[in-house]
Amino acid sequence: MKAIVVSHPGGPEVLTYTDVPKPSVKSGWTLIAVRARGVNHSEIFTRDGESPSVKFPRILGIEAVGEVVTTTDAKRLPVGQVVVTFMGEMGRAYDGSYAEFALIPNEQLFPITTTLSWQDLAAVPETYYTAYGALEGLRLNDGETLMVRGGTSGVGVAAAKLAHAMADVTVTGSTRNLNKRDQLLAAGFDEVVLDRDGQLPPGSRYDKILELIGAATVPESLQHLNPGGIVSATGELGGQWGLNEFEPVAKIPSNTYLTAFSSGDISEQRLRAMLRLIETRHLDVRPVKVFPLREMRAAHEYLESQHSFGKVVVVS
Ligand SMILES: NC(=O)c1ccc[n+]([C@@H]2O[C@H](COP(=O)([O-])OP(=O)(O)OC[C@H]3O[C@@H](n4cnc5c(N)ncnc54)[C@H](OP(=O)(O)O)[C@@H]3O)[C@@H](O)[C@H]2O)c1
Repeated sequence: MKAIVVSHPGGPEVLTYTDVPKPSVKSGWTLIAVRARGVNHSEIFTRDGESPSVKFPRILGIEAVGEVVTTTDAKRLPVGQVVVTFMGEMGRAYDGSYAEFALIPNEQLFPITTTLSWQDLAAVPETYYTAYGALEGLRLNDGETLMVRGGTSGVGVAAAKLAHAMADVTVTGSTRNLNKRDQLLAAGFDEVVLDRDGQLPPGSRYDKILELIGAATVPESLQHLNPGGIVSATGELGGQWGLNEFEPVAKIPSNTYLTAFSSGDISEQRLRAMLRLIETRHLDVRPVKVFPLREMRAAHEYLESQHSFGKVVVVS
Protein backbone atom coordinates (compact mmCIF):
# COMPACT_ATOMS: atom_id res chain seq x y z
CA MET A 1 0.00 0.00 0.00
CA LYS A 2 1.02 3.62 -0.33
CA ALA A 3 1.88 5.40 2.90
CA ILE A 4 3.65 8.45 4.27
CA VAL A 5 6.48 7.24 6.48
CA VAL A 6 8.56 9.39 8.82
CA SER A 7 11.96 7.77 9.50
CA HIS A 8 13.36 10.52 11.72
CA PRO A 9 12.04 13.80 13.12
CA GLY A 10 12.28 16.97 11.04
CA GLY A 11 10.45 19.44 8.81
CA PRO A 12 7.83 18.57 6.15
CA GLU A 13 10.60 17.04 3.99
CA VAL A 14 10.71 13.96 6.29
CA LEU A 15 7.17 12.98 5.18
CA THR A 16 8.07 10.31 2.60
CA TYR A 17 5.49 8.89 0.16
CA THR A 18 6.45 5.25 -0.30
CA ASP A 19 5.28 1.59 -0.52
CA VAL A 20 4.93 -0.45 2.68
CA PRO A 21 3.29 -3.84 3.37
CA LYS A 22 -0.45 -3.72 4.05
CA PRO A 23 -0.94 -4.62 7.78
CA SER A 24 -2.37 -8.05 8.67
CA VAL A 25 -5.29 -8.28 11.06
CA LYS A 26 -4.54 -9.48 14.59
CA SER A 27 -6.84 -10.41 17.46
CA GLY A 28 -8.88 -7.44 18.71
CA TRP A 29 -7.99 -5.22 15.73
CA THR A 30 -9.65 -4.28 12.41
CA LEU A 31 -8.17 -3.27 9.06
CA ILE A 32 -9.84 -0.22 7.49
CA ALA A 33 -9.45 1.36 4.08
CA VAL A 34 -8.71 4.99 4.91
CA ARG A 35 -10.73 7.17 2.52
CA ALA A 36 -9.60 10.48 4.06
CA ARG A 37 -7.97 11.91 7.17
CA GLY A 38 -7.77 15.31 8.80
CA VAL A 39 -4.32 16.78 9.40
CA ASN A 40 -3.70 18.05 12.92
CA HIS A 41 -1.28 20.41 14.59
CA SER A 42 -0.27 17.61 16.97
CA GLU A 43 1.06 15.67 13.96
CA ILE A 44 3.35 18.62 13.21
CA PHE A 45 4.64 18.46 16.79
CA THR A 46 5.19 14.68 16.45
CA ARG A 47 6.91 15.08 13.06
CA ASP A 48 9.18 17.71 14.63
CA GLY A 49 10.18 15.18 17.33
CA GLU A 50 8.23 16.82 20.16
CA SER A 51 6.28 13.69 21.15
CA PRO A 52 8.91 11.92 23.28
CA SER A 53 7.02 8.59 23.37
CA VAL A 54 6.92 8.24 19.55
CA LYS A 55 9.54 5.91 18.06
CA PHE A 56 10.52 6.29 14.38
CA PRO A 57 9.98 5.03 11.71
CA ARG A 58 6.28 5.76 12.17
CA ILE A 59 3.24 6.37 9.97
CA LEU A 60 1.65 9.44 11.57
CA GLY A 61 -2.04 10.39 11.62
CA ILE A 62 -4.30 10.51 14.68
CA GLU A 63 -7.67 10.33 12.89
CA ALA A 64 -9.32 8.70 9.87
CA VAL A 65 -12.62 8.00 8.15
CA GLY A 66 -13.09 4.93 5.99
CA GLU A 67 -14.57 1.46 5.60
CA VAL A 68 -13.99 -1.86 7.31
CA VAL A 69 -11.96 -4.28 5.14
CA THR A 70 -11.10 -7.19 7.50
CA THR A 71 -12.29 -7.46 11.06
CA THR A 72 -12.23 -9.52 14.25
CA ASP A 73 -15.60 -8.05 15.33
CA ALA A 74 -17.96 -8.77 12.42
CA LYS A 75 -21.02 -8.04 14.56
CA ARG A 76 -20.21 -4.42 15.43
CA LEU A 77 -17.85 -3.72 12.51
CA PRO A 78 -19.08 -5.65 9.43
CA VAL A 79 -17.08 -5.48 6.20
CA GLY A 80 -17.98 -2.29 4.32
CA GLN A 81 -19.18 -0.47 7.47
CA VAL A 82 -18.40 3.27 7.47
CA VAL A 83 -16.26 4.13 10.51
CA VAL A 84 -14.57 7.08 12.13
CA THR A 85 -11.55 6.73 14.40
CA PHE A 86 -9.33 9.10 16.32
CA MET A 87 -6.83 9.21 19.18
CA GLY A 88 -6.13 6.15 21.32
CA GLU A 89 -2.38 6.43 20.56
CA MET A 90 -3.07 6.04 16.81
CA GLY A 91 -0.15 7.45 14.82
CA ARG A 92 1.91 7.53 18.00
CA ALA A 93 2.23 4.08 19.66
CA TYR A 94 1.16 2.30 16.44
CA ASP A 95 0.97 3.30 12.78
CA GLY A 96 -1.74 5.82 11.96
CA SER A 97 -3.85 7.16 9.13
CA TYR A 98 -1.27 8.58 6.69
CA ALA A 99 -1.69 5.40 4.57
CA GLU A 100 -4.22 3.71 2.29
CA PHE A 101 -5.02 1.17 5.02
CA ALA A 102 -4.75 1.29 8.82
CA LEU A 103 -4.94 -1.39 11.51
CA ILE A 104 -6.94 -0.05 14.45
CA PRO A 105 -8.05 -1.54 17.82
CA ASN A 106 -11.75 -2.46 17.58
CA GLU A 107 -12.74 -0.27 20.54
CA GLN A 108 -11.21 2.75 18.81
CA LEU A 109 -13.52 2.40 15.77
CA PHE A 110 -16.97 4.01 15.75
CA PRO A 111 -19.50 2.76 13.15
CA ILE A 112 -21.66 5.58 11.80
CA THR A 113 -24.16 6.42 9.08
CA THR A 114 -23.77 9.83 7.48
CA THR A 115 -24.75 11.90 4.48
CA LEU A 116 -21.39 13.72 4.48
CA SER A 117 -18.84 13.10 1.72
CA TRP A 118 -15.56 11.44 2.71
CA GLN A 119 -13.64 14.71 2.64
CA ASP A 120 -16.24 16.58 4.69
CA LEU A 121 -16.56 13.72 7.19
CA ALA A 122 -12.76 13.61 7.53
CA ALA A 123 -12.77 17.20 8.79
CA VAL A 124 -14.92 16.20 11.75
CA PRO A 125 -13.72 13.50 14.20
CA GLU A 126 -10.76 14.96 16.08
CA THR A 127 -11.36 18.63 15.38
CA TYR A 128 -15.11 18.94 15.95
CA TYR A 129 -15.04 16.49 18.86
CA THR A 130 -12.37 18.62 20.57
CA ALA A 131 -14.27 21.85 19.96
CA TYR A 132 -17.57 20.28 21.04
CA GLY A 133 -16.14 18.77 24.24
CA ALA A 134 -14.39 22.00 25.18
CA LEU A 135 -17.54 24.05 24.53
CA GLU A 136 -19.58 21.66 26.70
CA GLY A 137 -17.04 22.29 29.46
CA LEU A 138 -17.51 26.04 29.00
CA ARG A 139 -21.24 25.62 29.77
CA LEU A 140 -22.44 28.12 27.18
CA ASN A 141 -25.61 30.07 27.98
CA ASP A 142 -27.73 32.18 25.67
CA GLY A 143 -26.62 35.82 25.58
CA GLU A 144 -23.00 35.12 26.55
CA THR A 145 -19.80 36.22 24.84
CA LEU A 146 -17.24 33.60 23.78
CA MET A 147 -13.62 34.30 22.80
CA VAL A 148 -11.86 31.64 20.71
CA ARG A 149 -8.17 32.31 21.13
CA GLY A 150 -6.42 30.84 18.07
CA GLY A 151 -9.58 31.31 16.02
CA THR A 152 -7.99 30.53 12.65
CA SER A 153 -7.00 26.98 13.66
CA GLY A 154 -9.05 23.96 12.60
CA VAL A 155 -10.40 23.60 16.14
CA GLY A 156 -11.04 27.36 16.32
CA VAL A 157 -13.18 27.47 13.18
CA ALA A 158 -15.07 24.34 14.30
CA ALA A 159 -15.72 25.99 17.66
CA ALA A 160 -17.28 29.06 16.04
CA LYS A 161 -19.71 26.94 14.02
CA LEU A 162 -20.59 24.60 16.90
CA ALA A 163 -20.98 27.39 19.47
CA HIS A 164 -23.69 29.07 17.39
CA ALA A 165 -25.50 25.74 17.09
CA MET A 166 -25.22 25.06 20.85
CA ALA A 167 -26.35 28.47 22.23
CA ASP A 168 -27.24 32.02 21.23
CA VAL A 169 -23.75 33.40 21.83
CA THR A 170 -21.55 36.12 20.31
CA VAL A 171 -18.27 34.57 19.18
CA THR A 172 -15.05 36.56 18.81
CA GLY A 173 -11.96 35.00 17.26
CA SER A 174 -8.37 36.07 17.79
CA THR A 175 -5.54 35.86 15.25
CA ARG A 176 -1.99 37.19 15.02
CA ASN A 177 -2.71 38.20 11.44
CA LEU A 178 -5.65 40.52 10.77
CA ASN A 179 -5.43 39.73 7.04
CA LYS A 180 -7.50 36.66 8.00
CA ARG A 181 -10.34 38.82 9.34
CA ASP A 182 -12.69 38.32 6.37
CA GLN A 183 -12.07 34.56 6.37
CA LEU A 184 -12.91 34.43 10.09
CA LEU A 185 -16.13 36.39 9.60
CA ALA A 186 -17.11 34.18 6.65
CA ALA A 187 -16.41 31.06 8.76
CA GLY A 188 -18.93 32.14 11.41
CA PHE A 189 -17.13 34.46 13.84
CA ASP A 190 -19.11 37.56 14.82
CA GLU A 191 -16.06 39.63 15.68
CA VAL A 192 -12.30 39.44 15.17
CA VAL A 193 -9.47 40.83 17.32
CA LEU A 194 -5.70 40.92 17.02
CA ASP A 195 -3.69 38.73 19.39
CA ARG A 196 -0.61 40.97 19.64
CA ASP A 197 2.44 39.27 21.21
CA GLY A 198 0.20 37.11 23.38
CA GLN A 199 -2.04 39.97 24.51
CA LEU A 200 -5.75 40.40 23.80
CA PRO A 201 -6.95 44.02 23.36
CA PRO A 202 -6.59 45.83 26.72
CA GLY A 203 -9.85 45.97 28.65
CA SER A 204 -11.65 43.35 26.51
CA ARG A 205 -13.83 40.96 28.57
CA TYR A 206 -15.63 37.70 27.76
CA ASP A 207 -17.88 35.27 29.61
CA LYS A 208 -16.10 32.21 28.23
CA ILE A 209 -12.67 31.75 26.58
CA LEU A 210 -11.59 28.73 24.55
CA GLU A 211 -7.80 28.82 24.82
CA LEU A 212 -6.08 27.17 21.86
CA ILE A 213 -2.74 29.02 22.25
CA GLY A 214 -2.43 27.34 25.63
CA ALA A 215 -0.12 27.68 28.58
CA ALA A 216 1.72 30.62 26.99
CA THR A 217 -1.40 32.82 27.19
CA VAL A 218 -3.75 31.14 29.73
CA PRO A 219 -2.68 33.48 32.59
CA GLU A 220 -3.40 36.48 30.34
CA SER A 221 -6.76 35.05 29.22
CA LEU A 222 -7.86 34.67 32.84
CA GLN A 223 -7.53 38.45 33.20
CA HIS A 224 -10.07 38.93 30.38
CA LEU A 225 -12.95 37.04 32.03
CA ASN A 226 -16.18 38.54 33.29
CA PRO A 227 -17.20 37.46 36.81
CA GLY A 228 -18.29 33.81 36.77
CA GLY A 229 -16.35 33.25 33.53
CA ILE A 230 -14.47 30.12 32.45
CA VAL A 231 -11.25 29.54 30.48
CA SER A 232 -10.85 26.14 28.82
CA ALA A 233 -7.16 25.38 28.18
CA THR A 234 -7.57 22.97 25.28
CA GLY A 235 -4.82 23.82 22.76
CA GLU A 236 -1.07 24.33 22.81
CA LEU A 237 -0.44 26.33 19.63
CA GLY A 238 2.02 28.53 21.52
CA GLY A 239 4.29 25.49 21.92
CA GLN A 240 4.39 25.84 25.71
CA TRP A 241 3.04 22.80 27.58
CA GLY A 242 3.14 23.83 31.23
CA LEU A 243 2.16 26.81 33.38
CA ASN A 244 5.49 27.90 34.83
CA GLU A 245 5.44 29.13 38.42
CA PHE A 246 1.68 29.54 38.21
CA GLU A 247 0.25 30.73 41.51
CA PRO A 248 -3.50 29.99 41.39
CA VAL A 249 -4.40 32.43 44.16
CA ALA A 250 -2.62 35.29 42.38
CA LYS A 251 -3.42 34.33 38.78
CA ILE A 252 -7.04 33.08 38.84
CA PRO A 253 -9.32 36.05 39.60
CA SER A 254 -11.92 35.36 42.30
CA ASN A 255 -15.11 33.80 40.99
CA THR A 256 -13.58 32.69 37.68
CA TYR A 257 -12.73 29.14 36.60
CA LEU A 258 -10.01 27.28 34.71
CA THR A 259 -10.79 23.97 33.02
CA ALA A 260 -9.46 21.83 30.14
CA PHE A 261 -10.58 19.23 27.62
CA SER A 262 -8.76 16.27 26.09
CA SER A 263 -10.03 14.55 22.96
CA GLY A 264 -8.40 11.38 24.32
CA ASP A 265 -11.42 11.29 26.61
CA ILE A 266 -13.76 9.74 24.01
CA SER A 267 -17.38 9.27 24.99
CA GLU A 268 -19.37 7.55 22.24
CA GLN A 269 -22.46 9.36 23.49
CA ARG A 270 -20.77 12.75 23.11
CA LEU A 271 -19.43 11.79 19.68
CA ARG A 272 -22.90 10.77 18.45
CA ALA A 273 -24.54 13.91 19.91
CA MET A 274 -21.98 16.03 18.05
CA LEU A 275 -22.49 14.19 14.74
CA ARG A 276 -26.28 14.58 15.15
CA LEU A 277 -25.90 18.32 15.77
CA ILE A 278 -23.75 18.71 12.64
CA GLU A 279 -26.22 16.83 10.44
CA THR A 280 -29.50 18.22 11.85
CA ARG A 281 -28.23 21.83 11.83
CA HIS A 282 -26.52 21.33 8.43
CA LEU A 283 -23.26 22.79 9.71
CA ASP A 284 -20.79 23.57 6.94
CA VAL A 285 -17.86 21.34 7.94
CA ARG A 286 -16.13 21.48 4.55
CA PRO A 287 -12.33 21.55 4.88
CA VAL A 288 -10.60 24.68 3.64
CA LYS A 289 -8.01 22.69 1.69
CA VAL A 290 -7.93 19.12 0.36
CA PHE A 291 -4.72 17.40 -0.79
CA PRO A 292 -4.06 13.89 -2.21
CA LEU A 293 -2.05 11.49 -0.01
CA ARG A 294 1.12 11.85 -2.08
CA GLU A 295 1.05 15.61 -1.30
CA MET A 296 1.04 15.28 2.51
CA ARG A 297 4.17 17.44 2.58
CA ALA A 298 2.25 20.32 0.98
CA ALA A 299 -0.55 19.85 3.52
CA HIS A 300 1.93 20.25 6.41
CA GLU A 301 3.63 23.19 4.70
CA TYR A 302 0.26 24.92 4.33
CA LEU A 303 -0.66 24.34 8.01
CA GLU A 304 2.68 25.78 9.10
CA SER A 305 2.50 28.78 6.78
CA GLN A 306 1.30 32.22 7.79
CA HIS A 307 -1.71 31.68 5.47
CA SER A 308 -2.98 28.63 7.42
CA PHE A 309 -6.71 28.69 8.06
CA GLY A 310 -9.24 26.11 9.26
CA LYS A 311 -9.23 22.38 8.62
CA VAL A 312 -7.00 20.58 6.12
CA VAL A 313 -7.95 17.12 4.83
CA VAL A 314 -5.91 14.60 2.82
CA VAL A 315 -7.80 12.06 0.67
CA SER A 316 -6.50 8.63 -0.35
N1 LIG B 1 -7.03 19.06 23.97
C1 LIG B 1 -7.09 18.23 22.94
O1 LIG B 1 -7.40 17.05 23.09
C2 LIG B 1 -6.81 18.73 21.57
C3 LIG B 1 -7.33 18.08 20.45
C4 LIG B 1 -7.09 18.61 19.18
C5 LIG B 1 -6.31 19.75 19.04
N2 LIG B 1 -5.78 20.31 20.16
C6 LIG B 1 -4.94 21.50 20.05
O2 LIG B 1 -5.71 22.55 19.55
C7 LIG B 1 -4.87 23.46 18.86
C8 LIG B 1 -5.43 23.68 17.47
O3 LIG B 1 -5.18 22.51 16.71
P1 LIG B 1 -5.41 22.52 15.13
O4 LIG B 1 -4.94 21.20 14.62
O5 LIG B 1 -6.79 22.98 14.87
O6 LIG B 1 -4.37 23.68 14.73
P2 LIG B 1 -4.01 24.29 13.29
O7 LIG B 1 -5.18 24.27 12.40
O8 LIG B 1 -2.73 23.70 12.81
O9 LIG B 1 -3.72 25.82 13.75
C9 LIG B 1 -3.12 26.71 12.88
C10 LIG B 1 -3.25 28.12 13.47
O10 LIG B 1 -2.52 28.22 14.68
C11 LIG B 1 -2.09 29.53 14.87
N3 LIG B 1 -0.75 29.45 15.43
C12 LIG B 1 0.27 28.69 14.97
N4 LIG B 1 1.37 28.86 15.75
C13 LIG B 1 1.02 29.73 16.70
C14 LIG B 1 1.73 30.32 17.81
N5 LIG B 1 3.00 30.03 18.06
N6 LIG B 1 1.05 31.17 18.58
C15 LIG B 1 -0.22 31.47 18.33
N7 LIG B 1 -0.93 30.95 17.28
C16 LIG B 1 -0.32 30.09 16.50
C17 LIG B 1 -2.12 30.23 13.52
O11 LIG B 1 -3.04 31.29 13.65
P3 LIG B 1 -2.73 32.83 13.26
O12 LIG B 1 -1.53 32.84 12.38
O13 LIG B 1 -3.99 33.25 12.56
O14 LIG B 1 -2.56 33.52 14.54
C18 LIG B 1 -2.66 29.17 12.57
O15 LIG B 1 -3.67 29.64 11.73
C19 LIG B 1 -3.47 22.81 18.84
O16 LIG B 1 -2.69 23.34 19.88
C20 LIG B 1 -3.77 21.36 19.11
O17 LIG B 1 -2.66 20.69 19.67
C21 LIG B 1 -6.03 19.84 21.41
